[in-house]
Amino acid sequence: MKYVFPSAAAALLVASSSAQVSSFCVAATNSTGSSAAIAATGSLDVASNSLTLDCTNLPDRTFGAFMVDTATGAPMTPAGSIGNLCLTGSSSLFLGASIQQASGGAVTFTPNLASLPLSSGGTAAMPGDTLHFQYWYRDVTSTGGATSNFTDGVSVEFAPSFASGIFPLFDDSSAATGSRCTACHSGSSPSGALDLSGTSASAVYSRLVNVSVMGSNCSSGGSLRVSPGDPDSSLLWQLASGSVTCGSTMTFANTSDVDRLRAWIAAGAPNN
Ligand code: HEC
Repeated sequence: MKYVFPSAAAALLVASSSAQVSSFCVAATNSTGSSAAIAATGSLDVASNSLTLDCTNLPDRTFGAFMVDTATGAPMTPAGSIGNLCLTGSSSLFLGASIQQASGGAVTFTPNLASLPLSSGGTAAMPGDTLHFQYWYRDVTSTGGATSNFTDGVSVEFAPSFASGIFPLFDDSSAATGSRCTACHSGSSPSGALDLSGTSASAVYSRLVNVSVMGSNCSSGGSLRVSPGDPDSSLLWQLASGSVTCGSTMTFANTSDVDRLRAWIAAGAPNN
């Protein structure tokens, strides 16, 4: 495991088994005799701007800089390096702020997610984006010559937007298998005492997240409509994916919508 997300922490932290954070690339052995690793901790909600990157097993006191890219590629070894770079190669280095000197073989950096040199041309991480990080550091060869090396990589999928990615599905007949959700979940007496209609995403958010299930027919499902960080016990997820049914068909028609809902809940169901 090259990443650790504290699971007992606040709602916006994701669980340790998160599918939203994964490793890529094989790090070459460095002058310490082991290979350096990068990990990501913190929030997957871009708005909270608190993703932290930690590297370990670095040669002590050496300098390096973090790299980011929107895509990964086959490993390559740049000139003047003994390491493996698996970003696509069009990446920029982070600007000066990311240059670090290893202390105790480790460095830590919290990138400003609103100001990144992305190869896509953008500068801000957006909800739903996946970004890939590696750390490039100075190293020495077995004969004492100057070279450079890389950690492995960590990929981070940020939480999709509730307002623009999930809320619109409730009032979209093509997004639901059967009739649209608001056909039953609106009006003065909505099914399951759940009103999914209206123009305010945050109003609907407040009826879903950390709200107890009201209907009696869904007793085989979770006890919360949305349990942040835990899609499997969120009734909304169970219904949308078809793992629980309570009388009516409430599944999302498209796998990509089901996946987006899962990623949003897994990342702590931010109100974004
Ligand atoms: C044909 C009518 C109908 C449609 C369409 C429908 N639902 Fe439901 N839904 C119900 C009924 C009825 C219940 C309440 C079951 C009960 O009483 O336990 C319910 C319950 C729920 C609940 C649990 C609420 C609670 O607290 O008990 C959720 C979440 C939910 N629906 C989501 C959806 C979503 C999302 C869609 C669209 C993909 C949808 N529903 C489409 C009829 C519908």
